[in-house]
Amino acid sequence: MTLAEIKIETKQLLSKKIDAIELNSLLGMLIEEVTGWNRVQQVVEINTPLTEIQINKFTAYTQALLNDKPIQYILGKAWFMGLEYKVNEHVLIPRPETEELVEWVVDYVHIIAKPLQLLDIGTGSGCIAISLKKVLPECSVTAMDISVDALELAKKNATNLDATIEWIKQDIIHETTLAHSFDVMVSNPPYIPVREKINMEAKVKNYEPLIALFVPNEDPLVFYKAIAQVAKKYLAPKGQLFFEIHYDQGKAILQLLDEMHFHAEIRRDSFGKNRMIRASLK
Ligand SMILES: C[S@@+](CC[C@H](N)C(=O)[O-])C[C@H]1O[C@@H](n2cnc3c(N)ncnc32)[C@H](O)[C@@H]1O
Repeated sequence: MTLAEIKIETKQLLSKKIDAIELNSLLGMLIEEVTGWNRVQQVVEINTPLTEIQINKFTAYTQALLNDKPIQYILGKAWFMGLEYKVNEHVLIPRPETEELVEWVVDYVHIIAKPLQLLDIGTGSGCIAISLKKVLPECSVTAMDISVDALELAKKNATNLDATIEWIKQDIIHETTLAHSFDVMVSNPPYIPVREKINMEAKVKNYEPLIALFVPNEDPLVFYKAIAQVAKKYLAPKGQLFFEIHYDQGKAILQLLDEMHFHAEIRRDSFGKNRMIRASLK
């Protein structure tokens, strides 16, 4: 079977599920993974027959896409702020909105213009902590997660990307012992009320770790409350909290932070949605 034939067959299988432009790009990535050919080589080699091993691999990937598996989990990698991260079923796939949160933190640290102590709470793949360390090498970066599996992968990512991070396995809701105070605490915590699961895309709710996504309907701000409590104890004088938020929880989080004696401001993401909050103690 040639590359051309396999492309036609796969497009027929997937075209009802995935729109043409996205499908083209996904196929390009899968072919590159299977054959090692980049996009230009894929055009040159279009009539080359694939080996049986390559065809079997390609068929398995196509089946995974048909089952809604995100391409990042199929390939085992994702990109965040231009860097490649390993991802697996234990970590959230890094999102572009979160890059904007990192940029906000970086802008703040540049204004302060001093080496600061930074803490990333709920680090997952490590994308926030590692990006901060790469952009701000003079700062000390600590990253926390409750998940041992997530921390294991985050450590691999840090090693691959040559970033020195201090790791803590801790449950931010129930235990909050930190070795020292921090100038910046940043978090993209779980924030989707479980009731929204029914309307979510299968590729998110069936594959991404539930522990990274969902919060109880009756207490959707549980992580913001817990982190703000920790911040009261461990945020250095003039320290700042940075949060990613659910686009329709902005008002409620501002109110919560106000009640907990924080000044807070909200920021929209590039899609125009309320997506980030910065807060400091009054
Ligand atoms: C929305 S994901 C964010 C992952 C990553 N920071 C990112 O932005 O892509 C939330 C992370 O919080 C972690 N988490 C969930 N409950 C936690 C808890 N009680 N204490 C600490 N981390 C927790 C999850 O394991 C997950 O990695």
